[in-house]
Amino acid sequence: MTETPEINTSVPQSARIWNYWLGGKDNYQVDRDIHADLREPETILKAAVETLDFSQPVALILLGILGHITDDDEARSLVRRLLDALPSGSYLALYDGTSVIDLAGAQAQDEYNESGAVPYVLRAPAQIAEFFDGLELVEPGVVSLPRWRPDPAQADPDAESDAETAEVDAFGGVGRKP
Ligand SMILES: C[S@@+](CC[C@H](N)C(=O)[O-])C[C@H]1O[C@@H](n2cnc3c(N)ncnc32)[C@H](O)[C@@H]1O
Repeated sequence: MTETPEINTSVPQSARIWNYWLGGKDNYQVDRDIHADLREPETILKAAVETLDFSQPVALILLGILGHITDDDEARSLVRRLLDALPSGSYLALYDGTSVIDLAGAQAQDEYNESGAVPYVLRAPAQIAEFFDGLELVEPGVVSLPRWRPDPAQADPDAESDAETAEVDAFGGVGRKP
């Protein structure tokens, strides 16, 4: 007999959070509690100042999320509004999906987006780099994720340098606010 898997209602789950945002009923209190919508950066900042000391550098971490903001201008504006509130010396760590390595993957994403699902846009690496405009990029800049300071144990053994490590369709980097 197949056992029904237990639903862990003590931790939020992204599909159920989406369900809540879409007005669905398949979600729990823990899903309804995630702190804010990225589209409301002022709400995020208002909550952040309650626990973070904004007189000290702050790390802004946006990993695999901006693809949900499908409008390029809006995505850039959201990052800018969050960064504007941070003091000098703060850092932005950001990566997002791209569509330059795995063309079949990009096509699958297009089909997914056209299916009526909540869309996720894959941007070009140059567009990912634009999110760091005005920041000092730390080495090695905006690169495919396996090339961002790979652990020696995880580096491609056939690559003679990090720059030869195989790329995947996700680019990101770390930048310091001057
Ligand atoms: C691809 S997952 C990435 C999760 C995690 N940051 C990581 O790197 O593994 C995208 C996440 O963004 C969240 N998300 C999507 N739209 C959002 C929004 N408008 N505001 C806040 N979070 C959002 C989803 O709930 C989901 O957890």
